[in-house]
Amino acid sequence: MCGICGYIGSSNGVKEVVRGLKILEYRGYDSCGVAFVENGKIDIVKTVGEVDNLKKLTKNMSANVVIGHTRWATHGGVNERNAHPHLSTSGKLAMVHNGIIENYKELKEEFNLNSLSNTDSEVFLNLIDCEKGTLINKVINASKKVQGTFAVLVLGSDGEMVLGKCESPLYLSKVENEVYIASDVLALKGENYFALNDHEFASVKNRKIIFYNKNGEKITKKSEKIEKNSDFSKIFYKTHMESEILETKDVLNKTLKKYKEENIFQNIKLPKKLNSISLIACGTAYHASLMGAEFFKKVGVDARAYLASEFRYGRELLNKNTLYIFVSQSGETADTIASAKMVKERNLPMLALTNMENCLLNRICENVLPTFAGREIAVASTKAYSCQVWSLYLFSLILANKSLPKEDFVKNFAFVNYDDKLVKEVASYKKVFFVGRDLDYITAMEASLKLKEISYINCFAIASGELKHGTLALIDSDAVVIAICTQEKIKSKLKSNLEEIKARGGKVIVVSQFDDFKDFSCVKLSKFDELFMPIVSVIPMQFLALKICELFGYNPDKPRNLAKSVTVE
Ligand code: M6R
Repeated sequence: MCGICGYIGSSNGVKEVVRGLKILEYRGYDSCGVAFVENGKIDIVKTVGEVDNLKKLTKNMSANVVIGHTRWATHGGVNERNAHPHLSTSGKLAMVHNGIIENYKELKEEFNLNSLSNTDSEVFLNLIDCEKGTLINKVINASKKVQGTFAVLVLGSDGEMVLGKCESPLYLSKVENEVYIASDVLALKGENYFALNDHEFASVKNRKIIFYNKNGEKITKKSEKIEKNSDFSKIFYKTHMESEILETKDVLNKTLKKYKEENIFQNIKLPKKLNSISLIACGTAYHASLMGAEFFKKVGVDARAYLASEFRYGRELLNKNTLYIFVSQSGETADTIASAKMVKERNLPMLALTNMENCLLNRICENVLPTFAGREIAVASTKAYSCQVWSLYLFSLILANKSLPKEDFVKNFAFVNYDDKLVKEVASYKKVFFVGRDLDYITAMEASLKLKEISYINCFAIASGELKHGTLALIDSDAVVIAICTQEKIKSKLKSNLEEIKARGGKVIVVSQFDDFKDFSCVKLSKFDELFMPIVSVIPMQFLALKICELFGYNPDKPRNLAKSVTVE
């Protein structure tokens, strides 16, 4: 979380960095700022809120050496003071930081750092300033004392920049005499980029980049090609979220096409003897993993999904006949990365299912199954989720030695929206529950996450068979229950559960392709193969969340307290 940007060159770096920060805003949008050097002195401009505020504040400013930051608060509240860049007590260094320094309190005491050092980032900065030697030595030495994660960009009052990283991402590119630095390749300019690995550093002075290892020795690095996603600026709708939901059909088609054209499944390395599959992920990607586990089980491969935040500290017995699939849209999520590193250390078969070509998870796993959902900007994951489910479904067909569907498979997939009357009705209830069985229970979990994430309604999902074991006590006329039913075998069971809810005064809305729920309000889905129905049924649930969010006057693309990439634990 948090986006870092830097520029050294002959253009207006303030403008360049603000441009980059706008692109990185998905990483956090609590506050932002820039620092630049003017006549040997560092100036800082910071503001609470989005990058557009910073753009206004800096519109008449110009500098050739600039660093910037867009923040998602970890330590310290959301205010201008805690916004980055920070200035060291001596005034000689400014720094932007992405990550968490876990031992900052101990460091503050041990090194008697100024009492103004409130946040973990300020402690790190003043620690760097206290070190001896050149700026690169200072940064390398200080980084050995910190515990936690960081990507830092430090600016000296002489115009030198030093950057380094541990866990959090950081990239550079060079275009003639201009150097760009950013937390995401997307915010760089040029054709090629350099990716810093953990405990690698770089100094940029007089537009020359020199790379160093953790021992302070110079190293050479190979550049890689920037694959920019052309979809990024393509927004036809009011919000990214709406546009992204509506792209689902296209990206499912694109993913299928790419898998066929590029023989992607054939290139996946499987364990010699595949006994089981473990899927590890967070949030929405975890829901896709749960769905994937069901698909694999249906073709006879034992499978289980784990929350990465639990897996990394769990006691799972890892073994060489299991394929460990790490599912992540961003490929940057801290818990997923930590879990992947744990599996990698044991040299076990692993696969990254990611949507970002250059991401850290792909580098760790090497064995990659990409989704082609295109850039997802809205914090709430929609098209990327559908693509993950689709991709795992297709993978299960391959494991069952079945052929992939024809390319026009999703052509008839009609988008089902929620009518506005129903949306208003749901929004008027104090309690919202999502229920389902089997695959539909997983969709219910995803629907509930989507609604709470952007509308701030306290809701939850429950397997409908579990209602009687406690939750039914909450059902009264203040409750609305949204039931998803796409699987023939559980239809009648679910129907009885819904009657029980109705009998207790709860409002029931059914989302289904079946005609059996005439006694309830219904959202009718188009009919497909049952295993594809989770992709069909999640769309109206995403729209429901979006519409309620907009009804309440919130911005669905930037829900409070959240960020797109969760790069801290
Ligand atoms: O980038 P990832 O797929 O690893 O992200 C995992 C979760 O943080 C993410 O899916 C989150 O739950 C979404 N914002 C939910 O819409």
